[in-house]
Amino acid sequence: MSIVLEQKFMQDYIRCANDGWEWKFHERNGGNLSYRMRAEEVEACKSEFTYDQEWVSLGVTAENLANEYFVVTGSGKFFRNVILNPAANLCILRLNEKGDSYQVVWGLVEGGKPSSEFPSHVTSHSVKVAQSDDYRIIYHAHPVNIISLTFVTEIDDKALTLALWESMTECSVIFPEGVGFVRWMVPGGAEVALETKKLMEKYNVVVWEAHGLFCAGDTFDNVFGLMHTVEKAAEIRMKVLATGLPFRRAIDAQGLRDCAVRYSLNLNEDLLDE
Ligand code: 13P
Ligand code: ZN
Repeated sequence: MSIVLEQKFMQDYIRCANDGWEWKFHERNGGNLSYRMRAEEVEACKSEFTYDQEWVSLGVTAENLANEYFVVTGSGKFFRNVILNPAANLCILRLNEKGDSYQVVWGLVEGGKPSSEFPSHVTSHSVKVAQSDDYRIIYHAHPVNIISLTFVTEIDDKALTLALWESMTECSVIFPEGVGFVRWMVPGGAEVALETKKLMEKYNVVVWEAHGLFCAGDTFDNVFGLMHTVEKAAEIRMKVLATGLPFRRAIDAQGLRDCAVRYSLNLNEDLLDE
């Protein structure tokens, strides 16, 4: 077996991608996943890297990610195939000295290029690494309920966050900073990457109207768990809305504050009503 594929980070990456497929977060090629490698992981894999592919401009710049290596899903590749043939559906790439171009050094053995959303991954990683080196993963998916919720919620961080926090008790514990909401935009380029970047300054979850969401995290367990929690809360909300009955109750601001005290959370007060 390839040295790259034997690595724990790669096994964890593949499991996360496959979990996403099994949870129906990825129709066809929908979604993408990136992991920022540790120096020792790069060292362990280097014997399988080649440095002869062309440098490609990213369209965005992230100076604080200069020379970093990432595992990324290929553009147009299907999450359901990652577990079957990781070397054909994933790549490892490195950024250049300026953090504005990449070179593929491993993978995509049947051809292809990194995800079209890689610019949004780069801007998000850039913001997150400035907050803490622990952040390693950006995960984009198309779960059905959070997308549905974007059609009935104002394009407003507060409205969307409260719709989630009020619907399931664990939400404010798992994402006390709230979620950001990006109006509909053409996907796959620098423009949406820069909007996403602004919201990643404040949040670990950024929802794109009528499209999906980006989650940031330190471990695959945490980032997948975050995606799963947001989607489950959205599912509850959509199921209640679908009954057509009025909401008779929801978790209120005081309840959210009480939870924050009990669990020592830094709850984002800007998003509360009173
Ligand atoms: P890629 O196949 O290029 O990763 O695009 C999928 C997607 O989700 C676009 O937003
Ligand atoms: Zn997408």
